[in-house]
Amino acid sequence: MSGLFITFEGPEGAGKSTNLQVFAQALNAAGCQPLLTREPGGTSVAERIRDVLLSHHEERMCSDAELLLMFAARAQHLHALIKPALDAGRVVISDRFTDATYAYQGGGRGIPVERIASLETWVQGELRPDITVIFDVPVEVGMARARARSELDRFEVEEQSFFEAVRNTYLSRAAAEPQRYRVIDASGDLQQVAAAMQPVINEVLERWHA
Ligand SMILES: Nc1ncnc2c1ncn2[C@@H]1O[C@H](COP(=O)(O)OP(=O)(O)O)[C@@H](O)[C@H]1O
Ligand SMILES: [Mg+2]
Repeated sequence: MSGLFITFEGPEGAGKSTNLQVFAQALNAAGCQPLLTREPGGTSVAERIRDVLLSHHEERMCSDAELLLMFAARAQHLHALIKPALDAGRVVISDRFTDATYAYQGGGRGIPVERIASLETWVQGELRPDITVIFDVPVEVGMARARARSELDRFEVEEQSFFEAVRNTYLSRAAAEPQRYRVIDASGDLQQVAAAMQPVINEVLERWHA
């Protein structure tokens, strides 16, 4: 038995976390109880790595350390939470996953894509999300929402060009593999975004029943 692995992606303030709750409520109402998790993090060890990744340090963290910590957290997350749940046939929804590494450490920091791909294969083997939902917003819109939400973390303080690269990486990955990605225009109000998610919710329920 194998479950369904769904990931939510997009820049800061796109509405991933907010809409993940809406998405999960719709699945719950249909009798499907998804496991909700997030990256970096998702287990106690991986959440400690998250803390190192997101907090501000006096010393500048080099890009390779950042990349390797992302995959260290992911290895633990897969081992302790995601794989057992998928093996038990569950729907798993993760707020960010490896596409974020391609977008932030690849597009944003400029780490070559081949290096990320080799770590992806090392840590995940053949495992890839079944469906990746990308919440797309203009950079200024996302940043304004993130600023209004809370203090900015170590990524959120990056400049506009960093986030343009993040956005472009997400969109080009989606364009290259349309079977896996669903791009949602997340610039409208929450009702509009919920309406845009409905076909994806229907699709997940169909695939879950199948
Ligand atoms: N479509 C939307 N319109 C207006 N505000 C939104 C929308 N989506 C999210 N928000 C608000 O913007 C902030 C960031 O949303 P959040 O879900 O935390 O984004 P993310 O998880 O992608 O960083 C939150 O305060 C949230 O309430
Ligand atoms: Mg969030």
